[in-house]
Amino acid sequence: MFDITKMVKIMAVKVYKIYDSRASETVLATYNNLVFAQSPSGKSVGTYEVPVAPEGVDKAVLFAQKKVIPKLDFGINQKDFDSELEKLCGENFSKSGSAVSVVLSILNLRISAYNKKKSVYELYNKNPKKEDLPCLLSNTIGGGLHTQNKMPIQEILGTSKQNDFSKRVKDGIQFYKSVEKNLNDKKIFFGKNDEGAIAFNGDYKESLDIALKSRPNNFELGVDFASNSYYKNGKYFFGNKKMNERKYLKFIESVIEKYKLFFVEDPVTENSFEASAELVDKFGKEKIICGDDLFVTNVERLKEGIKNKSANGIIIKPNQIGCLSKTKEVVDLAKSKGITPVISHRSGETCDTTIAQLAVGWKIPYLKESLMNGERISKINELTMIYNDLSK
Ligand code: PGA
Ligand code: ZN
Repeated sequence: MFDITKMVKIMAVKVYKIYDSRASETVLATYNNLVFAQSPSGKSVGTYEVPVAPEGVDKAVLFAQKKVIPKLDFGINQKDFDSELEKLCGENFSKSGSAVSVVLSILNLRISAYNKKKSVYELYNKNPKKEDLPCLLSNTIGGGLHTQNKMPIQEILGTSKQNDFSKRVKDGIQFYKSVEKNLNDKKIFFGKNDEGAIAFNGDYKESLDIALKSRPNNFELGVDFASNSYYKNGKYFFGNKKMNERKYLKFIESVIEKYKLFFVEDPVTENSFEASAELVDKFGKEKIICGDDLFVTNVERLKEGIKNKSANGIIIKPNQIGCLSKTKEVVDLAKSKGITPVISHRSGETCDTTIAQLAVGWKIPYLKESLMNGERISKINELTMIYNDLSK
């Protein structure tokens, strides 16, 4: 029999192939052209992440249109939605890939918010306060897989320790501008990389020296080593150094100490739960030793990390695991064990601002982003809007 409700639904929810900030193909989902969701993609991708689109974005979009969307109800309880979604998309979203599963998961949440006339963060955070706005970890100087230069460190980040969110944003911008000025003063040519971070052809020392010199007051430095990218057959190939794990750990410790790093992401490669634990043991009281490729927002890998005391911070990227409910499960477990969640953009981004909303909704203390490109500042601007609403 002709089912009018199903027909309306099929017409209302649509998915499209679009392009991200790197002009790579990704997916947009929309409900009646009123509610939108877009999916990002990474370049320094952990082995254990859900693939973006196993057979390409065209096939993923077709699969969603034919096999997934017609069988789903939208605007329902998020956990129920995500569990139906996974049944249709294959275990761990193996048939659809994360581009399709994440946009549909986000779309469901956004339709729920739309139906309730609320912002996404209000669905989770019943008593939101200005204090729930995250600290920012802003990628400011780039290297590694995101940049064509000689610096093996993927990201040098800055974080402002000010209480007020708007001051944190200003500090982040001041840091960026003062790095630019210091490079200009030395007549060193620079540009921008995939994430809008400053790219110049300095080595890691020059880059960290400039960062240290450019800090505003109440400001600390962080680093995403993304060490998978320079690890091969048991050795770390860092610039012109080739190191075994022991030697490399000593080297990392010296960098953390010399540059007073507050935040250290993926200092060791993605299966090194024990080596990472040595760094937590040494620095965990004052600093965040954070796993990205180590955990890939996966609850089982986080449990392994908890058992080994491998990290006291975890990067949260919904597209690593494929849907919002599984992402929230990881955030909740991390918080319950005193592990700091850091919600993060990807290097291939869109103007989707859901991670900013979730930062406030799930009370995540840090958002990792950068400040100087439209698809990145869109998240900060969303937070600025929430900050203003909560300041009234
Ligand atoms: P990616 O990098 O989005 O290219 O994976 C970001 C990161 O490693 O944090
Ligand atoms: Zn990372």
